Amino acid sequence: MKYLNIGTPFETDSIVDFENIRPVESLSDLLDGTGLSCDVKDVTTLTYKFDSNDKVYGLGENLRGINKRGGIYESFCTDDPNHTPDKRALYGAHNFFIVDGKKSFGVYIDFPTYIEFDFGFSHKDELKVSIEGKDLRLYIIEGDKKTIVSKFLKAIGPSFLPPKWAFGFQQSRWSYPDNKAIREIADKFIESDIPCDTIYMDIDYMKDFKNFTIDEERFPNFESFVKDLKDDGFRLIPIIDAGCKIEDGYKTHEEGVKNRYYCEDSEGKPFVGAVWPGLVHFPDFINPEARKWFGDQYDFLIDKGIEGFWNDMNEPAIFYSAKKLEEAIEYASNQKGKNLGIYDFFKLKDQFMWLSNNKEDYQSFYHRVDGNTYNHYDLHNLFGYNMTRAAGEAFERNHPEKRILLFSRASYIGMHRYGGIWTGDNHAWWEHLTQNIKMMPSLNMCGFLYSGADIGGFGGNASGELATRWSQFAVYTPLFRNHACMGSRHQEPFSFEDDTTQVTRDIIRYRYAFITYLYSEFMKARTNNTLLFRPLSFDFEDEHCHQVEDQLMYGSGIMLAPVHQANAKGRYVYLPEKMLEYKIKSNDNYALELRESGHQYVQVQTKEWLNYLRQGTLLILNEVKNKVEDISVETLDLIGFVDKDASYQVYSDDGISRDAEASYFDIHVKYDGQIHLSHTGDIGCKEISYDIVTTDNKRHKGVYHV
Ligand code: GLC
Repeated sequence: MKYLNIGTPFETDSIVDFENIRPVESLSDLLDGTGLSCDVKDVTTLTYKFDSNDKVYGLGENLRGINKRGGIYESFCTDDPNHTPDKRALYGAHNFFIVDGKKSFGVYIDFPTYIEFDFGFSHKDELKVSIEGKDLRLYIIEGDKKTIVSKFLKAIGPSFLPPKWAFGFQQSRWSYPDNKAIREIADKFIESDIPCDTIYMDIDYMKDFKNFTIDEERFPNFESFVKDLKDDGFRLIPIIDAGCKIEDGYKTHEEGVKNRYYCEDSEGKPFVGAVWPGLVHFPDFINPEARKWFGDQYDFLIDKGIEGFWNDMNEPAIFYSAKKLEEAIEYASNQKGKNLGIYDFFKLKDQFMWLSNNKEDYQSFYHRVDGNTYNHYDLHNLFGYNMTRAAGEAFERNHPEKRILLFSRASYIGMHRYGGIWTGDNHAWWEHLTQNIKMMPSLNMCGFLYSGADIGGFGGNASGELATRWSQFAVYTPLFRNHACMGSRHQEPFSFEDDTTQVTRDIIRYRYAFITYLYSEFMKARTNNTLLFRPLSFDFEDEHCHQVEDQLMYGSGIMLAPVHQANAKGRYVYLPEKMLEYKIKSNDNYALELRESGHQYVQVQTKEWLNYLRQGTLLILNEVKNKVEDISVETLDLIGFVDKDASYQVYSDDGISRDAEASYFDIHVKYDGQIHLSHTGDIGCKEISYDIVTTDNKRHKGVYHV
């Protein structure tokens, strides 16, 4: 991996491990062997002539396919709740991509504002990246695509470490507006015997949407409420928004203004925008002192027993700025009484349509970093990243012993060291389940291991069938959270028909059986700089695998083939080689069948979902409990597809401390006409019940006493 500073790049701290990265002197040194050209101007361009078979991977949180070729994308953190196919940017800015084909190389553009990635959209054979500036750090990563990813992951540093309970099921809604509503949801989970570890608190827990306050009327005796719920096994996760309400007497407002911790306008006054609380100021997270100050505020809630947070509206979302709203109103009042032509009417409408997240607003406030002043627009993509960094750094400083759950909506490369991400305001559309499937590998490529989408969709109304299919896929995403928008149909597991509740209970129970495996695979990906979710083409050379966009390789040797279409009672699956089909029918009922390579149509009823195991793969399941912390590995079930031998390493630690000591348990299987199990290590496992299919199509069941 090598890099070149072009001009004077802003230090983003996205890359932290320079051990295997060498600086080079010139663009020709940097681009040597890639076929890329770079033209440094006010808009710097990178161009490449595609070969007909070239694919493009990466860009983290963005739209369309796993192979990004043929599309046009933007890097500009954007609060847009309509993720339709014509959109070019979402909440994250992840400027890492790989060209894979005749030549293979990775590119990371460390540049904090607008970039356009035209991957053969304007001209099918041309890659053109337009970078809005000439001060950037450009990295080139050599090797095949797996090597490129692992070098990049090493360079950006390991993922943040979530507490193990954060791998459990999480229930959210905008909103459970008071303690009664939250209590009812918790009771419903208990009554319905559905596992769940956390319940979310959206903006209504705050007093008038002020960060680091509690609405005492809705949540009297907050501390004892938090404790009561925890005693019942539910952790409460409050939201924190980027904008802080302007209000005399509000501590966060007054302290921030007094110390100049808020972003300022060109006159040096705190910039005024509007979000949920009405008029707000935005903390200058990029300024290290302001970042420290803001991070320390989280202790207000931590001291009350809170152990996790989600950071929102941090692109930052600006519904309107005071200045632009005034201009729009004035424009509108000047039109009063006029007989408007249709273009004049559109112009009038546009005054209000373009109020939110307006580029001119982003250009009208400033950050103060190390004595220098920077226009926000020029550092836009670093804002959400640094909000989450503020929290992450404070947690490490103030609570060094303990893991605290944290994830964010906006992000930049490097933010994964402080928190995960959720993919924002998706919809209850089948297309968004498909998008969720396609996005997981690219999120992982950019370091975001702890990630997931709002299960069931945030906006709009989910059917029981959509929620079911979505939950089946989300069994595999580390963040396993059902969240929905105000006004939408309720989509908690018990909100649909009785049989849907039954099926969802089974899916969630399966997830709890899968936690030991998931946690082991998460930790291995984190330590080894590998991907939890992979495109098929990362594991198989076969050309057809490059075209498969709705099956994914997962962990060690599992292939996921989720159903993501309405009314489907089955799906086509492409098997690159002979595999063991593992059809899950409920949390404790499944079917195993050997399948030959090639295309197959497989029946998958609504309550069922499909996995495939490669030869040599062992999958372990623990006993189901309703809380992650109650899960033990004393007895394990093992499902495997074995030729002569196979092994699996289980990872275990205390799940809550930052520097937890790791222990390992290796399970070995040998087959010589008979199955022999053995093990090394000790994590407290006493018994393994196995169900193994061997390549001669024999099924072997038995119990191994450790
Ligand atoms: C934003 C978030 C969403 C949240 C809502 C209200 O739209 O993306 O998750 O529920 O704000 O806080």
